Amino acid sequence: MDELKLPPGFLAAGRNVGIKNSKRDCGILLSEAPAVMAACVTQNKSRAPNTARIEALRDAGGSVRAVLTVSGNANALTGDEGVQDDLRVADALSDLLGVETEEVLTAYTGVVGHRLPIERVTDGMEELLTELGRYPRPFAESVLTTDKVTKIEHREIFLSGDRVQICAVAKGSGMIAPSLATTLVFLTTDCAIAQPMLQKALSAAVDDTLNQLTVDEEMSTNDAVVALANGWAENPRIETEDEDYELFAETVAELFLELTRAIAADGEGATRSVEVTVTGAARREDARAYARAVASSMLVKAAVFGADPNMAGRVLATVGGAASRKGGAFELAKAGLRIQDLVFFEDGAMVRHDDPVQLRHRLSEPVIEIAVEVGLGDASAKAFGCDLSYDYVKINADYAAITQTSADGRVAVNERLAELGPTIKRKILVEALRYIEHFKGIRAVIKLGGAAMLDPKLEEHFAEDVLLLQAVGLRPVVVHGGGPEISKTMERLGQTPEFIDGLRVTDHASIGVVEMVLTGSVNQRLVAALNRHGSKAVGLSGKDGGLIRAHKMESDRDMGLVGEVESIDTRLLDMLERDGYLPVISPVGLGEEGLAYNLNADVVAAELAAALGATKLIFLSDVAGLMEGDQVISELNGDQLKMRLETGRIAGPMRPKLQAALRALRGGLSSVHLVDGRVKHNLIAELFTDRGVGTLIRHA
Ligand code: ARG
Repeated sequence: MDELKLPPGFLAAGRNVGIKNSKRDCGILLSEAPAVMAACVTQNKSRAPNTARIEALRDAGGSVRAVLTVSGNANALTGDEGVQDDLRVADALSDLLGVETEEVLTAYTGVVGHRLPIERVTDGMEELLTELGRYPRPFAESVLTTDKVTKIEHREIFLSGDRVQICAVAKGSGMIAPSLATTLVFLTTDCAIAQPMLQKALSAAVDDTLNQLTVDEEMSTNDAVVALANGWAENPRIETEDEDYELFAETVAELFLELTRAIAADGEGATRSVEVTVTGAARREDARAYARAVASSMLVKAAVFGADPNMAGRVLATVGGAASRKGGAFELAKAGLRIQDLVFFEDGAMVRHDDPVQLRHRLSEPVIEIAVEVGLGDASAKAFGCDLSYDYVKINADYAAITQTSADGRVAVNERLAELGPTIKRKILVEALRYIEHFKGIRAVIKLGGAAMLDPKLEEHFAEDVLLLQAVGLRPVVVHGGGPEISKTMERLGQTPEFIDGLRVTDHASIGVVEMVLTGSVNQRLVAALNRHGSKAVGLSGKDGGLIRAHKMESDRDMGLVGEVESIDTRLLDMLERDGYLPVISPVGLGEEGLAYNLNADVVAAELAAALGATKLIFLSDVAGLMEGDQVISELNGDQLKMRLETGRIAGPMRPKLQAALRALRGGLSSVHLVDGRVKHNLIAELFTDRGVGTLIRHA
């Protein structure tokens, strides 16, 4: 894709520094040369300290080299400490860049009232500087909060024959009812322009666009619009309101109009956007106020969400109310109203529409245009907004509940949970929590194989899940495989792995490697991960305490030290379990004269489950489950499984696994689960929901 670039002389970067869980949350915008700066900031009296600082620096007229942004934490309403934190951030970046502190601006967005985890920001800066590039996208992503899409606008114009570029990046979403500014917008241009002219163009653009935008009529504490012009285009410097200024200002206005529309469309919970045009007002301030009142009316916005024709009456009621409140001129008899170009009100009366289906259709379009003609003069204005959906309430009612600050100041917002409505939350929780009662005291053997074991992240999630299972009273025993790692190690040691029918031929040289990898390495790594999460895991091989007796596997070809389970003595496991330890077992069996045998881990898990009288046997591996075509079979019983095995419909490594499972089911086990271990927390999804996510094989 031919991606947009920043104007010459500007660089940007954005990354995660640990303020949010994993999304980009910190950005740097850099000008390679000192840039002229214009700005508009929020007029909220509870505003964040950085906005006052931007205003002061703007009024002092100095140049700017960089802007540092943080999303996820607004650094607002945190008192003197917040003021100092903000300065420390600016200081740290100016030190790294070798510029004056006054040449570095800061901008924040996110939760209000939490201290900034300052070290994360200052530590992150160094890495950010190594990632600086010409593309604005990572930076644009790093300023988002509840926004769904990045907002970047780019224009190119010619001023007295010189090519000039303008690029602006914005974030929006909620708390949007700007006054002299809104949201965060960063405009960069290589235009040569005097500061007062840049400010003039910016203020004019903002006044007609962002200042007429409302998502929820809530003025933000952190709004800041910053424009930087570095003059690299070498156009004749704009000093007066000449032709070049006109074109520049017009282009900036256009760009802000697009950003405004994008912010409206991506308002919190928005499903469609609204543009209100008021014409024929006696005074411009009336026009502005009426348009703004309509765009922010909850009743109008709710009607827009519902594509409800009643919005017509609500619009006129809102305008009349605004006129009375603000002392503006308005007479119903002179007024007119169109919505989506359909006439709804004229000559002092509502106009009926006969085709309700067609009407709803028009009112369901993505942009709803409401046009009010006041009929008393020639002043006009526009306002921008969006509908009010269930999701707006959901997002903002859940915001506090899902925002947590940990001891080190990290604010975690679980965005995925935030997507869910209260109904679904209740359903999931009630369904899941009921299982606690079922699971109390039952034994489950969990066989871990495949990606879940090789990917350190998945291994961590597995450890979390096991701890949760223990916490609800389930008694797990973990068995792990290790195939791929054994081969890798053998190859490193100059041995060649050999397989017959999917089984590893294990001679006396390779059994050493098998034990070293399984018991020495994989087992210990897993034990460490489980213990990091608090599971009290104890690593064992089948040799320990004579847990698994094995003998040489019978086969036509000599497989060497590949063994078969002969008997299992569970006393050691019982003992560990009684004292709250979690056994983690490597599939190595004890043979005659202390010989070690390499065992199939799936079979070991099944035999152990039977010997322990476990209720559940769970295989975590790299398959979605038992498949029928491309569908996972959600549930089947032992007989159905037997038939599938007999008709040869199950092949490969699945076959010995399921044969062993079937034996265990006959031995009294009540359920076997096949769960895709490549997806994190699938174990929990399988066990704590009625339909699960994998395949369940029931006893009967
Ligand atoms: N959560 C229940 C259990 O652990 C039901 C699982 C259902 N799973 C399935 N794949 N159909 O027993």
